Amino acid sequence: MNKLKIVGGSVILLAVLAGVWWSTTSSDRSGSAVGRAALPTSQSIVVPELSPVALTGEATFNASCAICHGTNAAGTDQGPPLIHKFYISRRHADFAFVIAAKSGVRAHHWRFGSMPPVEGIEDADIQPIITYIREIQAANGL
Ligand code: HEC
Repeated sequence: MNKLKIVGGSVILLAVLAGVWWSTTSSDRSGSAVGRAALPTSQSIVVPELSPVALTGEATFNASCAICHGTNAAGTDQGPPLIHKFYISRRHADFAFVIAAKSGVRAHHWRFGSMPPVEGIEDADIQPIITYIREIQAANGL
């Protein structure tokens, strides 16, 4: 009889401990939200005097990319800023821009969802966009 009580008591104790463990470890598995406060705004980005190629890139960027990546590539609620340490050439080389524009990007760094391929964009359109982004990145110490 006594033995049975001890076994029963242990089972209850284990169940309680398991409950405590579960509630403390499973409360926030979703990770931290995108830190919007730390992201640039179109006003906080320094836009240098752009080269002629970058000016061409800016026009294409504004027509094809800014709807998601924002004015001055500062980001919107549809897409991340490209004036960001993630996208410096050491981490996202120029070909990453070509692939992104032509084939799209599966969501991986952020929570904006995936980037669809940009319809009708050509390599010749993308190169000046890269020049535009790199010139702004450099002016912002990236
Ligand atoms: C419909 C919205 C949308 C449009 C339009 C768009 N993008 Fe994106 N882009 C995104 C999102 C969202 C991501 C982030 C995906 C992630 O990493 O979570 C992204 C990521 C990127 C990346 C990072 C690629 C990588 O390898 O991580 C580059 C570069 C990029 N976009 C360039 C462009 C360029 C250039 C254009 C215009 C030609 C453009 N995007 C148009 C939504 C968009």
